[in-house]
Amino acid sequence: MGKNNVQGCFFFILVLQALSLTLQPVSGGHLWDGVIVTQADFQALRAIKHEMIDSNGVLRSWNDSGIGACSGGWAGIKCVNGQVIAIQLPWKGLGGRISEKIGQLQALRKLSLHDNVLSGPVPWSLGFLPNLRGLYLFNNRLSGSIPPSIGNNSPVLQSIDISNNALTGIIPPSLANSTRLYRLNLSFNSLSGSIPKSFTLSSSLTILALQHNNLSGSIPDSWGGGGMGKNKTFQLQILTLDHNLISGTIPVSLSKMGLLQEISLSNNKIVGSIPSELDGLSRLQILDLSNNAINGSFPDTFDKFQNLTVLNLKSNKLEGEIPSTIGNISGINSIDFSENKFVGEIPDSFTKLANLSSFNVSYNNLSGLVPSLLSKKFNSSSFAGNLQLCGKRAASKGKNGKTTKAATATTGAARNVEKGDEVESGGEAGGKLVHFDGPFVFTADDLLCATAEIMGKSAYGTAYKATLEDGNQVAVKRLREKTTKGQKEFETEVAALGKIRHPNLLALRAYYLGPKGEKLLVFDYMPKGSLASFLHARGPEIVIDWPTRMRIALGVTRGLCYLHTQENIVHGNLTSSNILLDEQTNAHITDFGLSRLMTTSANTNIIATAGSLGYNAPELTKTKKPSTKTDAYSLGVIILELLTGKPPGEPTNGLDLPQWVASIVKEEWTNEVFDLELMRDAPAIGDELLNTLKLALHCVDPSPSARPEVQQILQQLEEIKPDLADDGAKAAAPTSE
Ligand SMILES: *[C@@H]1O[C@H](CO)[C@@H](O)[C@H](O)[C@H]1NC(C)=O
Ligand SMILES: *[C@@H]1O[C@H](CO)[C@@H](O)[C@H](O)[C@H]1NC(C)=O
Ligand SMILES: *[C@@H]1O[C@H](CO)[C@@H](O)[C@H](O)[C@H]1NC(C)=O
Ligand SMILES: *[C@@H]1O[C@H](CO)[C@@H](O)[C@H](O)[C@H]1NC(C)=O
Ligand SMILES: *[C@@H]1O[C@H](CO)[C@@H](O)[C@H](O)[C@H]1NC(C)=O
Ligand SMILES: *[C@@H]1O[C@H](CO)[C@@H](O)[C@H](O)[C@H]1NC(C)=O
Ligand SMILES: *[C@@H]1O[C@H](CO)[C@@H](O)[C@H](O)[C@H]1NC(C)=O
Ligand SMILES: *[C@@H]1O[C@H](CO)[C@@H](O)[C@H](O)[C@H]1NC(C)=O
Ligand SMILES: *[C@@H]1O[C@H](CO)[C@@H](O)[C@H](O)[C@H]1NC(C)=O
Ligand SMILES: *[C@@H]1O[C@H](CO)[C@@H](O)[C@H](O)[C@H]1NC(C)=O
Ligand SMILES: *[C@@H]1O[C@H](CO)[C@@H](O)[C@H](O)[C@H]1NC(C)=O
Ligand SMILES: *[C@@H]1O[C@H](CO)[C@@H](O)[C@H](O)[C@H]1NC(C)=O
Repeated sequence: MGKNNVQGCFFFILVLQALSLTLQPVSGGHLWDGVIVTQADFQALRAIKHEMIDSNGVLRSWNDSGIGACSGGWAGIKCVNGQVIAIQLPWKGLGGRISEKIGQLQALRKLSLHDNVLSGPVPWSLGFLPNLRGLYLFNNRLSGSIPPSIGNNSPVLQSIDISNNALTGIIPPSLANSTRLYRLNLSFNSLSGSIPKSFTLSSSLTILALQHNNLSGSIPDSWGGGGMGKNKTFQLQILTLDHNLISGTIPVSLSKMGLLQEISLSNNKIVGSIPSELDGLSRLQILDLSNNAINGSFPDTFDKFQNLTVLNLKSNKLEGEIPSTIGNISGINSIDFSENKFVGEIPDSFTKLANLSSFNVSYNNLSGLVPSLLSKKFNSSSFAGNLQLCGKRAASKGKNGKTTKAATATTGAARNVEKGDEVESGGEAGGKLVHFDGPFVFTADDLLCATAEIMGKSAYGTAYKATLEDGNQVAVKRLREKTTKGQKEFETEVAALGKIRHPNLLALRAYYLGPKGEKLLVFDYMPKGSLASFLHARGPEIVIDWPTRMRIALGVTRGLCYLHTQENIVHGNLTSSNILLDEQTNAHITDFGLSRLMTTSANTNIIATAGSLGYNAPELTKTKKPSTKTDAYSLGVIILELLTGKPPGEPTNGLDLPQWVASIVKEEWTNEVFDLELMRDAPAIGDELLNTLKLALHCVDPSPSARPEVQQILQQLEEIKPDLADDGAKAAAPTSE
């Protein structure tokens, strides 16, 4: 509500401000480039429109006058200096063909036409765009083969997704020529031939998805350089080759791809045994080898896969015993060993697997007793077809109703991939993006061209919610340039902030430095918004119970305590607007440490203009110097806010929130202060409410020396609510990742 939609690139905001052009958002939220489109690009766009079938009229704005093309008038077009750099028209019902004239758009960086009904071939000329970074043509009806030109002449290509079309022919080896290519998705086509060896040599490829094609031959055994003496790091995290006609064995060299999280080779014709070398892949979460002809025994060193959640070996020719060490992989939730030739007993160690929710060992040659915990949890069809297995022998007569569908991974790991510490990547016009650890892979281009929505403005800058091309969301804070420190100092400080990890502190995941000194900070996006809106902007029917409020109070206190004791950071502006809530309503403090990125004079100004929100300790008006004690005061106000349900910014009878509460308590009408909805449970929680109120009033004592330190506040809160103290013991420990 009251939010501003800005469709388009951050990049634009940056470039335009740098050029000091008048920024005039025109209707529809597009931003003015101020330059008329070049003749060549105009002609090319006209030809592109001509060859498309535009049944929804989205290209109506692409009319005779070229004046509008680069000034926001033409739908889906973005320019720099009169040259088209992006065409973004997904989900527009566009049919017809993609014109070869697209090759005239020499500045094109991004072509996004996914989820349309385009047919005909992928234009050959796309391969001659030297600046092309992203090609998103998935979910169309494109046919013909992939032009070998693509990738060969586009040295900065980063992401190719032409999945779910009707492409045939072979995969050109040159696709992986760009040393920046990190995502290649050609799945769900009818591509044939074998997997190019060049893919195994790419040191940038992070996601390789070729499933559901007609690929044959064996998987090249040259992963990680194939013994060519190269000493590169390899990024491969996701490899999905399922549902093809691939033969040969599982390549041993895959074990060099130490970052792999998902391997899916199911529904192929793979033979031979599982190389024991693969146990080096300690980050693996999903291993799906089902429906092949893999033989030999299962390596008993597989407990090295400590992060495995899905293990699917269904319908192979595996023999020997099921290794009991699998019982050590505590997080595993799905095991399918059915239709193999395993012998011996089901290991007792499997009963340790608390998260196991799917289990199938049917149609093997297992014997002995089914561990009773397993026989309680899973029904007979999980054990059927093992003639000598007792305890839960299924009365089955054969393999009727045999399914060939592979167990689908449910962990959601597919698109969330991890990057290592501080990965840098270049951006537009010399910008620089630095990643700290975090769940998302994105490039500077992905970030700059994300769809952005303004969430709010503060003394330090403007916050946006940004949606990346792959649908992931992040929060981006654009800092006021004039007030930030110089680049070198800034980078030192921001690197320190990027290392701070605590469950109750909003994690800084990356920063971007633009060529003109623009500075963006990228944080996790918190879907539930701020505590302020959670408490004060909810519908009348929504009740927030006491345990939820107490959990938030404890979370905030833990986060603040970590800041004070482990990071030596004073927050200085703790408010309910600066506490964000994730999906599970866990509190995450934001906006801490930002003053370290600002110049001294900017900070003085900021503090001089702060206040009046009701969270500032009284002495701040004089001292202007935030301290752990002024933070304790703000925390006290927030706890009062949780107890009373009243926003501190609105004085009652001319008193601020702490004064109002104190006045009522003095009159011994204490129960009047609590939020009415808490009073329903008052008989059960009365003492907790009163003790929390006492503690909060202690925190807002007008005298700083009388206030407790945050560590003491935490200790007292945990004593008041001991049942919530335990999950804190875990949460309060600094998390290393
Ligand atoms: C071209 O389209 C724009 C945007 O729809 C419109 O404002 C303009 O009047 C049109 N010009 C002509 C010559 O049709
Ligand atoms: C690849 O494309 C397919 C089909 O569009 C999609 O389902 C899948 O999630 C994509 N895989 C990755 C890893 O991006
Ligand atoms: C691209 O890759 C192919 C095959 O991997 C190779 O033959 C060709 O020389 C490469 N082209 C460039 C420009 O690097
Ligand atoms: C895959 O190739 C086989 C022959 O090799 C052909 O019969 C089949 O139609 C192809 N499948 C697809 C989906 O193209
Ligand atoms: C190869 O990389 C490793 C780890 O990064 C490093 O320790 C080693 O010195 C490198 N070897 C060569 C020959 O560069
Ligand atoms: C397992 O996953 C956790 C959480 O994602 C991560 O911290 C840890 O490093 C992973 N373990 C390995 C061996 O990669
Ligand atoms: C596995 O199958 C291959 C042929 O595909 C065969 O050469 C090999 O001996 C078999 N290994 C075992 C252990 O049965
Ligand atoms: C793994 O499991 C085996 C058998 O269940 C057990 O003997 C061994 O101690 C476990 N190893 C670890 C590291 O937990
Ligand atoms: C079991 O699953 C729960 C919920 O997904 C998760 O929080 C927990 O960490 C898992 N346990 C292990 C041992 O991985
Ligand atoms: C099953 O195992 C037993 C020995 O445990 C063996 O005698 C029998 O031949 C095996 N049956 C099959 C079908 O492999
Ligand atoms: C176990 O696998 C068998 C054979 O593949 C299948 O028929 C049965 O439905 C599966 N049972 C469960 C619970 O997944
Ligand atoms: C303090 O936080 C509030 C709420 O987020 C914000 O509006 C204000 O600009 C911040 N003040 C300072 C000095 O950071």
